[in-house]
Amino acid sequence: MSNKQFDVIVIGGGPGGYVAAIRAAQLGFNVACIDEWKNAKGGPALGGTCTNIGCIPSKALLQSSENYDHAGHHFADHGIKVEGLSLDLAKMLARKDAVVKQNNDGIVYLFKKNKVSFFHGRGSFVKAADGYEIKVAGAAEETIAGKHIILATGSNPRPLPGADFDEENILSNDGALRIGGVPKKMGLIGSGVIGLEMGSVWRRLGSEVTVLEALPTFLGAVDDQIAKEAHKAFIKQGLKIELGVKVGEVKSGKKGVSVAWTNAKGEAQTLEVDKLIVSIGRVPNTIGLNAEAVGLKLDERGAIVVDDDCRTSLPNVWAIGDVVRGPMLAHKAEEEGVAVAERIAGQHGHVNFNTIPWVIYTSPEIAWVGQTEQQLKAEGRAYKAGTFPFMANGRARALGDTTGMVKFLADAATDEILGVHIVGPMASELISEAVVAMEFKASAEDIARICHAHPSLSEATKEAALAIDKRTLNF
Ligand code: FAD
Ligand code: NAI
Repeated sequence: MSNKQFDVIVIGGGPGGYVAAIRAAQLGFNVACIDEWKNAKGGPALGGTCTNIGCIPSKALLQSSENYDHAGHHFADHGIKVEGLSLDLAKMLARKDAVVKQNNDGIVYLFKKNKVSFFHGRGSFVKAADGYEIKVAGAAEETIAGKHIILATGSNPRPLPGADFDEENILSNDGALRIGGVPKKMGLIGSGVIGLEMGSVWRRLGSEVTVLEALPTFLGAVDDQIAKEAHKAFIKQGLKIELGVKVGEVKSGKKGVSVAWTNAKGEAQTLEVDKLIVSIGRVPNTIGLNAEAVGLKLDERGAIVVDDDCRTSLPNVWAIGDVVRGPMLAHKAEEEGVAVAERIAGQHGHVNFNTIPWVIYTSPEIAWVGQTEQQLKAEGRAYKAGTFPFMANGRARALGDTTGMVKFLADAATDEILGVHIVGPMASELISEAVVAMEFKASAEDIARICHAHPSLSEATKEAALAIDKRTLNF
């Protein structure tokens, strides 16, 4: 038995794991967190996929590339002349790396502040013995023991069959965030969240981008009206998006990548690109956990089986985030982490899956919470819809960004808000008001009667709520 005993051991230091560790420590537990991520120098890099090769670096590059795009194409509208504009990609990538490091270091600081013991290495089950023994395989090897184990081992990118990631030509989100020169031609397989965000980055920096999507509809999970508006905007920007395709053989060579594909009409096509990003979803990661040693139950997708409260098939073993069912989002992982720590403490941790917001950080941004109009129709629910275009919003005009709209869906009888969908500027920030409203079971009229600052984009939210009763004031 190890002499290092903990109340709670968290395996995985991504947003799910590190937040769970902090919350457990706040609740008075003696907590360890094990994470194996290595930075370029082989040292620890806490924060998981989100911090190292996901949310944070992608948003840094989205911002930098948008600044470049604005300087090249939109500053002139504001009377600002830019001469001799050029791109320093190396500096842009270095800035992104620095932003990542600030976040890595921030978590180290938070662990110290909250007295969470950090172990750098791979954590795996040894055996169940009055709690669990966990081996940590890092620079050195040691065994620690914990009464409660929280598994937060995240997910990995799904490769295209027959076209493994080499991170040179065929890139996952990892390679897509560190291409050393702007490719002339770039291909993306999958027009999901990563495809659209990464496609936007490289298009803005000068690549000719083609996206091949298997489904016949664009962004099927998004409200149809919002998805159509976004699709229009992306096409106008120059993204080529082919829907309903079947991807065939992918050949990678010195000159780049050649993708055989069939279009929606069944015609054979070939796409020749310098780089190919494959973004066709992610798979739960349990590699290295030695789950078999303790009989941890996984489902057919490889996800750890959990109940509504994130309890696994083993007593006092919990699992959260991308490695379990539900949306693969950092904030969902965090909420589950907090809730599990509170449940271990005997409290009533709670995650409301109906009010988890989604955001796609393209330009225009797309954000939503709750049900889509097509879902309500399919359910046969009586609803009212109200929309308000940013074109009629003073702040959007001043910003020079009037694409898109806010859309409200409310119950026809009670007026309770059932869904809010936004495509347009700062949708990522605007959606919070809708989340709060839905969490408090507000009606559309509640939002319509609240004073919103003028001029602000949030007035479009108020107006969309007013539109439910066909009484917009500015449209
Ligand atoms: P992870 O962040 O994957 O962390 C798991 C950690 O566990 C990793 O550090 C891993 O090394 C470690 N680990 C695994 N196995 C072991 C082991 N046996 N021992 C020790 N350590 C182990 N979500 C959003 O909400 N907003 C966004 O804007 C967003 N953007 C994204 C952009 C990209 C390009 C990608 C790929 C994802 C993005 N996501 C975004 C999704 C988000 O990154 C994930 O949902 C989130 O990281 C999941 O958190 P997690 O803690 O479950 O797992
Ligand atoms: P995704 O699930 O968002 O999209 C994958 C797309 O690929 C789908 O549209 C699917 O139909 C398509 N596809 C699947 N197989 C295909 C094939 N063989 N050929 C052509 N198309 C195919 O997955 P993605 O973009 O890889 O992202 C993974 C997850 O990471 C997201 O679901 C999301 O949870 C998370 N993420 C979140 C972000 C955010 O919150 N802003 C940003 C990026 C990722």
